[in-house]
Amino acid sequence: MTAVTTGAMTLPLDVEPIRAQFPVLHQEVNGQPLAYLDNAATTQKPRAVIDAVSGFYERDCANVHRGVHALSARATEAYEAARGSVQRRLNARRPGEIVFVRGATEAINLVAWSFLRPRLQAGDEILVTEMEHHANIVPWQLLCQQIGAQLRVVPVTDSGELRLEALDGLLGDRTRLLALTHVSNALGTINPVAEIVARAHARGVPVLVDGAQALPHVAMDVQALDVDFYVFSGHKTYGPSGIGALYGKHEHLQAMPPWQGGGEMILSVTFDRTTFAAPPLRFEAGTPDMEGAIGLAAALEWLESVGLERAAAHERELLDHATRALRSVPGVRIIGTAAEKAAIISFTMEGAHPHDIGTILDHEGIAVRTGHHCAQPLMRRFGVPATARASFALYNTHAEVERLVEGLHQVRRVLGR
Ligand SMILES: Cc1ncc(COP(=O)(O)O)c(C=O)c1O
Repeated sequence: MTAVTTGAMTLPLDVEPIRAQFPVLHQEVNGQPLAYLDNAATTQKPRAVIDAVSGFYERDCANVHRGVHALSARATEAYEAARGSVQRRLNARRPGEIVFVRGATEAINLVAWSFLRPRLQAGDEILVTEMEHHANIVPWQLLCQQIGAQLRVVPVTDSGELRLEALDGLLGDRTRLLALTHVSNALGTINPVAEIVARAHARGVPVLVDGAQALPHVAMDVQALDVDFYVFSGHKTYGPSGIGALYGKHEHLQAMPPWQGGGEMILSVTFDRTTFAAPPLRFEAGTPDMEGAIGLAAALEWLESVGLERAAAHERELLDHATRALRSVPGVRIIGTAAEKAAIISFTMEGAHPHDIGTILDHEGIAVRTGHHCAQPLMRRFGVPATARASFALYNTHAEVERLVEGLHQVRRVLGR
């Protein structure tokens, strides 16, 4: 149990009743109880989300924005209510600033092709950071190749923090966008987004923030941060996969042309000419992932009911415990030791390939991620081909941290270290 003080009140986070809401956690893997420590890849889903999705299929399944019949009206109402839930979670000014997409990747591509491409000219620059996920590198690179623009990169320090002193020098007259992650999936670093946005805006540069790893852990206020775009994926925040959202400032979305054409994104179509619907529908061509949106809203509301602050405090304790404990295992090197970190620990072990670490841990029922985490430039920066990564969610326990540590001793025994 984790005790957290918020103002005058002490609120305990009792993990067992939370775990009870996650059916998938209660199984054995390779004869051992599952310890699921791969939450940065995807989180498991609580009963509230499973019920919301199956409830849609059982009661309300119909296409949205089309029918006059009762089920279609109910589906439309639930879908638009889900947009309102995302709006509240991000504190956007209006629901129309929320576009439903497949996930963070699709949201970034949307901004690349619809917002930036029309404004980009040969010789212009797009600024990213050295700690970006490929999803926040490759779309910009594709754009640069087409237009003859250049990608520039904010470097990271040895502890895995952004070199902010380099930022001002990199923000130049030709910088057309800064795209950076809120929380690094491979290091856990939480970036000082407010300060970075202020510096970029002082140079007239709009900012896209990739919140894929932030939303399950960090409170978010797009108005306070004044970000131009914010993107995230449902599946990393206890919701379904195949759904996510793009927040875009109203004035940006209004000015952006559609990037995919089809049904529901139009006002009228003739063979000569199409006029487009206002945002957000302009960017949601075709039948959307209705059950995904409804499941996502259920996930956001569920997390709110648990309490984001309590969850974050519990995860912080798991992170501190795991960091201390992993440091005691001979040969372990933690990559990413920023002062502000989410509960993500990337590490290597002398004489053990990350793939072997992952396989041996799996035999013990412990699920961690191994590989380059879709952050190959970052791996290169730290001189490693890959790492093992343990990433924690609010349903993880201190006993699971102990099992991870014991599992790493088992890796050493198996590999004769
Ligand atoms: C920081 C970050 N950005 C973007 C993504 C891409 O998310 P998705 O694959 O859900 O679109 C991920 C997924 O791992 C991520 O960790």
